[in-house]
Amino acid sequence: MNQVSPLLVAQVTDMHLFADKDGELLGIPTTQSFQATIQRLLSLRPQPDLLLLTGDLSQDGTPKSYEHIQNLLSPLSLPTYWLPGNHDCLKTMQQVLNQVPFSPCKAFEQNGWQFILLNSSVPDYVHGYLSEEILDKLDFQLALTNDRSTLVALHHPPLRVNSSWIDASTLQNAEDFFAVLDRHPQVKLVVFGHIHQEFNQQRQDVHYLGTPASSIQFEPQSSNFSLDREEAPGFRLLNLYPDGRWETRIERVAYTHQLNLAATGY
Ligand SMILES: [Fe+2]
Repeated sequence: MNQVSPLLVAQVTDMHLFADKDGELLGIPTTQSFQATIQRLLSLRPQPDLLLLTGDLSQDGTPKSYEHIQNLLSPLSLPTYWLPGNHDCLKTMQQVLNQVPFSPCKAFEQNGWQFILLNSSVPDYVHGYLSEEILDKLDFQLALTNDRSTLVALHHPPLRVNSSWIDASTLQNAEDFFAVLDRHPQVKLVVFGHIHQEFNQQRQDVHYLGTPASSIQFEPQSSNFSLDREEAPGFRLLNLYPDGRWETRIERVAYTHQLNLAATGY
């Protein structure tokens, strides 16, 4: 790859697939909205260099739901990295999503950038937490690579997003996470899912980027659970340059479906 060319990363998140391909989340057939997302990814020129899946890949944590993801993503043939969200089953993900183009790797380098993927999920809880072991490993890894521009990915947002019902389930020990990041200025980006909406906020020199789901969208700035009826499913593109510069944008997917607010809750 030309040294000045950016690495194009596509972050796709919160697909919430079911074992049943016709399964619906609040009226949205999530397999269909994910298929529409994949069509949009396939139409991109240039094609992304890698795919980052940031949690809630499955709604029911079943092996079948992860097999669907594997099959649906195969036309893209992109190196695909993943981390779990609160709806996922880590053990099942490890068993299913472990063959090319999926990588089980959670720390890797490409185009002068380092990627570190963290597991912030807590079994049986909606909120996020980073264990001492994970934070120690992160600190150690960052100390070893202090000249590498770094992107850290996790499922839960470390910052509040101004929606009290979502803010109740963000990363519970964000201060511990920040304490590590503050020691390592090479960290430039923290990307996450969970909030089903776009978010971009800077803290110190780090940009915190939240990304729309490939399924349902949540209404921004809402104190109670509320769906955004206007926004389509989406994903994030990131251009990462070897000298540490970066650019990002959100892509929306041409997909609409009648929401069913009487359906079972999120
Ligand atoms: Fe989600």
